[in-house]
Amino acid sequence: MSDSSRAGAGADITSALLEVVERAAVACAHTMGQGDRHRSDQVAVESMRATLDRVPIDGRVVIGEGERDEAPMLYIGELVGTAHAASANGGGGLPQVDIAVDPLEGTNLCATGASNAIAVLAVSERGGLLHAPDIYMEKLVVGPSSKHAVYLDAPVRDNLRAIARCLDRKVEDLVVIVLDRPRHRQLIADIREAGARIRLIGDGDLSAGISAAVRGSGVHAVMGTGGAPEGVLVAAAMRCLNGEILARLVVDTPEKEERCRSMGIADMDRVYRAADLACGRRIVFAATGVTDGTLMKGVRFFGDGSRTNSLVMQTSPQRIQFVDTIHLTGDSDMVVHF
Ligand code: FBP
Repeated sequence: MSDSSRAGAGADITSALLEVVERAAVACAHTMGQGDRHRSDQVAVESMRATLDRVPIDGRVVIGEGERDEAPMLYIGELVGTAHAASANGGGGLPQVDIAVDPLEGTNLCATGASNAIAVLAVSERGGLLHAPDIYMEKLVVGPSSKHAVYLDAPVRDNLRAIARCLDRKVEDLVVIVLDRPRHRQLIADIREAGARIRLIGDGDLSAGISAAVRGSGVHAVMGTGGAPEGVLVAAAMRCLNGEILARLVVDTPEKEERCRSMGIADMDRVYRAADLACGRRIVFAATGVTDGTLMKGVRFFGDGSRTNSLVMQTSPQRIQFVDTIHLTGDSDMVVHF
């Protein structure tokens, strides 16, 4: 394949991946505020599964909805993309990629109409995303300027001082996002004692992590324990944004250790960085807002269609795009509202 046709294929894949997250977001946004998080998740999963088979890839899900016996679709190991669509006759020539998906990150957020629910995925060449079990992960997420100044095991106060110094501001001016959970009682007390401001969130440490790497978002760090799959997706985003995630799996039972080992993880105490969790050379990350959020607006519906805000990023060449799309379903004239 020539360089120019390779570039063309890359662009096709990226725009097809954008459509996957856009459609998933539109599908579950119809259920916003209905109080049924399982239904919200289900429609996002079904939409994402169907649209992925239109992407010109030979794809394998490495972070998905669960193990094969517990998830009917988008389970770990499921093969997706045009190479595996019902009408396919083999995947010859299509890029072989690994995919991490979270069709609806923040199922409760969508079900209650709260902010920062997103539809999200990341893609890399084979082997470029950690096969992480669905267990907890300790996380510290920061932007590019502080990425070499923080340590997962350093006292909270020291990390906050380092972040403040790198951002040329006072600790009192920092905003740290923490999941509002009883397990974070000590962490929250430590952050308060250090003097930083805290935004407690009900769910969604993935979109919080992305915000921490974007100057002007008003978020300077994410601290605490959340899902490991979300951690891998944050790492993919950090690779595109030059931010950093420091992370360690929480392996507190023999059963979890066994699951880790079966997924090829031997060192249970390892502190991972973004480049370990998402080591791929060519990573593409795409997310669409479901409900209004820090970086993206949620889906807006109007008579004949909908409007979505998305973030599409890649590592090589490194590119970050904010995409505003109007999806028309009828044939009447389009009216664009700013
Ligand atoms: P869902 O989208 O599956 O509802 O998960 C949302 C989330 O808040 C993540 O952002 C976070 O990593 C994880 O759940 C935290 O898990 P828990 O709710 O068990 O504390």
